[in-house]
Amino acid sequence: MSFLSLENVTISFGGIRAVKNVSLDIKEGEIFALVGPNGAGKSTIFNLISRLYKQNEGNIFFDGKSLNQLKPFDMPDIGIARTFQNIELFGNATVLQNLLVGTNVRKSSNFLSEILFTRSVRKEEVTSRVMVEEVMDFLDLQQYREKYIMGLSYGTRKIVELGRALALKPKVLLLDEPASGLSAEETEDLAFWIEDIKKIMGITVLMVEHNLNLVNKVADRVAALVDGEIISVGNPKSVQSDPKVIEAYIGV
Ligand SMILES: Nc1ncnc2c1ncn2[C@@H]1O[C@H](COP(=O)(O)OP(=O)(O)OP(=O)(O)O)[C@@H](O)[C@H]1O
Ligand SMILES: [Mg+2]
Repeated sequence: MSFLSLENVTISFGGIRAVKNVSLDIKEGEIFALVGPNGAGKSTIFNLISRLYKQNEGNIFFDGKSLNQLKPFDMPDIGIARTFQNIELFGNATVLQNLLVGTNVRKSSNFLSEILFTRSVRKEEVTSRVMVEEVMDFLDLQQYREKYIMGLSYGTRKIVELGRALALKPKVLLLDEPASGLSAEETEDLAFWIEDIKKIMGITVLMVEHNLNLVNKVADRVAALVDGEIISVGNPKSVQSDPKVIEAYIGV
């Protein structure tokens, strides 16, 4: 059974179809990359999966369930976490606070048990803290834990955003252009982290990325999107040598 799938999904904005009849099947445990020129509809697909947008037609399934009726705030609980093309963090808060805020949305306890501070709530609090520490160790962020976001370099902020998503312990991680604005060295670190997120943490990764070196290095499969339509799917080499893809890239 497929893990994350889009079935004939279409969305229009003011009469313009940004995503046209897209079907995608992401397997559990793989790193899947979406590539394509600017305005192809890549971020729109992320916004559809994370329910910021609702499709006009088609269905989206995750882990055997339809996402059609869910809202963005349901995502952490069902196991979907994401980063944004433009970093979304609290600038006036520290790295540690930003990572903890992420885990707060995941609490399954209700209001009453929060007030009574029952054992289950306490246990969740401890689990969140432990996860946040693990993520900071993993991404080499301990040195910044008490630093405010607005004082950090762009590259470090991007890694913090990745950490915020990872601290939710998702089953699938959506990364929208994780390497944009990173230095060559930061991109190299990112490649290792993405591979370990799959291998060590067992998280499925769906990423949008313009850096084809990174895509070639980490992705198991790639889909090329042009003008809202998928024109090629397969391993990174076969997609990049697909005449349809070459023509689309030269054409733009
Ligand atoms: N909320 C919206 N309202 C109107 N148009 C939108 C909206 N969101 C996306 N679009 C349009 O849909 C198309 C696809 O945009 P999208 O952001 O998905 O592209 P992209 O592939 O992520 O591009 P980039 O590589 O530049 O990030 C564009 O024409 C964009 O203007
Ligand atoms: Mg985009």
